[in-house]
Amino acid sequence: MTEPVPIEDASKRAEELRREIAIDDDLYYVRDSPVIEDHEYDRLLRELEAIEAEHPELITADSPTTRVRGAPRSEFRKVVHAHPMQSLDNALDSGELVSFFDRALKSLREGGAIPSGDPEWVCEPKVDGLAISLLYEDGVLQTGSTRGDGAVGEDVTQNIRTIRSLPLRLKRMRSGRVEVRGEVCIAREDFAELNRIREEAEEPLFANPRNAAAGSLRQLDHRVTASRKLRVYLYHVQNASELGLASQSELLEWLADEGLPTQEHNRICGDISEINEYLEEWGRTRFSNSINTDGVVLKLNDLGLRERLGATSKAPRWAIAFKYPPEEKRTRVLDIEISVGRTGALTPTARLEPVQLSGTTVQRASLHNQDEIDRKDIRMGDVVWVHKAGEIIPEILRVDIDARTGSETPFKIPYVCPVCGDEAVRLPSEAAIRCPNKSCPAQLQEGILHFVSRQCMDINGIGEKLVRQLTERGLVKSVADLYGLAASDLSDLDRMGEKSASKLVSAISESKSRPLRALLNALGIRNVGKKTASDIAVKYGNIDAFISAGEEELASTEGVGPVIAASIRSFLADERNMAVLNRLREAGINMMEGDGEAHPAAFNEEFSEKRFVFTGELSKMTRQEAEKLVESLGAKTSSSVSKRTDVLVAGADAGSKLAKAQILGVKIWDEAEFIERLGPDNID
Ligand code: IVH
Repeated sequence: MTEPVPIEDASKRAEELRREIAIDDDLYYVRDSPVIEDHEYDRLLRELEAIEAEHPELITADSPTTRVRGAPRSEFRKVVHAHPMQSLDNALDSGELVSFFDRALKSLREGGAIPSGDPEWVCEPKVDGLAISLLYEDGVLQTGSTRGDGAVGEDVTQNIRTIRSLPLRLKRMRSGRVEVRGEVCIAREDFAELNRIREEAEEPLFANPRNAAAGSLRQLDHRVTASRKLRVYLYHVQNASELGLASQSELLEWLADEGLPTQEHNRICGDISEINEYLEEWGRTRFSNSINTDGVVLKLNDLGLRERLGATSKAPRWAIAFKYPPEEKRTRVLDIEISVGRTGALTPTARLEPVQLSGTTVQRASLHNQDEIDRKDIRMGDVVWVHKAGEIIPEILRVDIDARTGSETPFKIPYVCPVCGDEAVRLPSEAAIRCPNKSCPAQLQEGILHFVSRQCMDINGIGEKLVRQLTERGLVKSVADLYGLAASDLSDLDRMGEKSASKLVSAISESKSRPLRALLNALGIRNVGKKTASDIAVKYGNIDAFISAGEEELASTEGVGPVIAASIRSFLADERNMAVLNRLREAGINMMEGDGEAHPAAFNEEFSEKRFVFTGELSKMTRQEAEKLVESLGAKTSSSVSKRTDVLVAGADAGSKLAKAQILGVKIWDEAEFIERLGPDNID
C-alpha cells in the first residue's frame, strides 16, 4: 500500500501524470512512435488511478483513466462503432490475476450462476497489434475500422482489404450481418525486414512490431499498406448469440470455419491451476512464435455467464489481459567496438557478457552514436540493464551505477577510422562520425555487399567472407571490378572450387541485365533507397537523362525533394563515382529502365511485377490496350484468374472471372479505380 498523499501534492502529481500520459497517448496512438515502454506507461496510469481512488474529487472529465485510449486520425473517415470497442483490464502480476478471479467467481456464485465447481476459461495469446472491427454483410466484407477512442474509429476498409490472409468473402455465411474483432499485426521477420529497408533508405525506424503494424494500417495510401505484409487474427464475434454460439470455443471454431484466421495456441482451461500452467508454458515458448505476444487474454468460456458479469464503462468483467513483465537482465559491457558502414558512419556496438533474453542469447547491442553513449553514460566494464526493444532489438536501458567500482572506462568514439586510419569527421548537422575515405576497405566491402544484395544487382553467392577475400587480395577495388573477374581469379579462394567459381562468374554476368532501378539503388547514393531509385529510373528511363538532370528538376521528382536531389548531385559531381559508372557501362551493364524512354509518371508499385487479369467491358479503352498499358508499367497479364493473380480489373458485365476472384480473395478494381490508380500521366 502507498502512503496517503496530502491533497495539494496529489492534485499537482495527478496533473503532471495527466499531462505526461496525454503526450504519450498522442505519440503512441496517433503518431505510432512511442518514446516510453509499455510497462512504464502502465505504471504512470496505475499511479494516476491510485491517486484518483484516494481522492475522487480530483477525477476530471478528461482524465485518461476514464476512457479507452486512442483518437481517430482526422484524415480518415470516421466510423461510429455500433457497439463500443472496449479494451481489457490488465493484470500485471499473479496477485492482480487472483483478485480478478476472486471478483468474477464471487459475483457468479452470489448470483447463483455457478452453484459449485469452476467455470471454464479460454486462454488466448495476446497478440501485440492494433485492434480492428470487421463488418461482413451477406458474407462480404463491408467495413474495417480501427478502435479509435472506442466509440469512434477510423475507416480503414481499403487498407484492411490489402491483407492477403483476410477473406473478402466468408466461406459459409451468405446472409445477415456479423461483426468480428481481432488484431492486425506484423511478424517479427517482416518487421525486421521492413526496418532493414527503412534503415537502408535512411528513413526513421519503427520502434516495435506493434507500431509498424499500426503505422502500416493507418496509411493514407493503401498501396503502402499492401507492401507491408500485415497479418490479422480474429478472436471475437460481437453478435455471437444471434449465430447460435454458446461459448468462446464455439466462437473460435466458427471464425476458423468461415476462413477467418485465428491464433493456433488458444486453449480451454478447466481451473486456475491449468491457467497457471498455460501462462508458464506460453511465457517460455512465446518467443519462438513469429507473432509478438505481450501477454495472455483470459476469457470466460460460457457466453451466458459473460452476460451475467457484464461490463464496466471501460472493459468487460469477464475477461482480463495478463501481461508478462518485460524481460530485463543485468550483464556487463566487455568492450565497445566500432564498425564502419557503407556510408562511412562509425557505429559503436557494446560487446556484452552473453545473456539469455526474450528467447535468444544476446552478446551485442548497438549504441548508435556518441550522443547515445553520453546520454546513458555507458562505460567499458559497466554493469548494465538490457532488454529487447519491442522484444526484438537488444538495447542497453541503463547503467547500474551502484555496481561501479571505479575501474570502468568512459568511451569516446575516436576521430580516426579503425579500418583505414583516415581522420574521421562529424558534420554539425549529423549524429554520426564518418570516415571520409571513399576507398576505405570497410566502406568498399559494405558497398559491394550492398551492390550485390537482392534489392540491388541481386548476385547470388557473394557473401561477407568472399567480399573480404576479394578486397584483401586486391581483386576488387570497386564494384566495377566484379565484372572483370574470371573463374580462374576465383578458383583458388577459400572454399571455392572450379564449379562454384564459374557459377559465380555466370551469376555476375547475368546481373548485367538488371533494370536501371536496381543499378541506381546499388550505387549507394546517400538517401536513395529502393523506392526513390525506382521513381527516378521510371521518370528518366536511362542513365544519361538522369545524369544530365539538374538539381531543381531532380527535386521535383515524386519522392525526391531537395535533400535527396542535393545528395544525388554531390554523388555525380565526384569524379571517382563517375569513373565507376563509366566502367560499369563499358562492362555492358544495362543502363535503361524498360524501353529506355522517359516516363514522367512516378514508378508505380501498384503495377510493377504484379499479375493482372482484365474482364468485362472497359469504356475508356479496349482490354488489349489496357493490357499493353499495365505491361508498360511492369505488370504481367493473364487471361485467367488464379490464386497468383494480384488484381482483377472488372469492367461492365463481368461474369465468372469476377466470381472466382471474389472467392479467391483476389483484389478487385472497377474501371474507375483502375483509371485512378493509373494516374493522369498514363491516360491520353
Ligand atoms: S479480447 C471484447 N482477445 O489486447 C473483446 N483482445 O489489452 C475484447 N488483444 O483491446 C478484446 N489479443 O486489442 C482480446 N485474444 C485476444 C487479444 C486481444 C490481443 C488486444 C485487443 C484488446 C487489448 C487488451
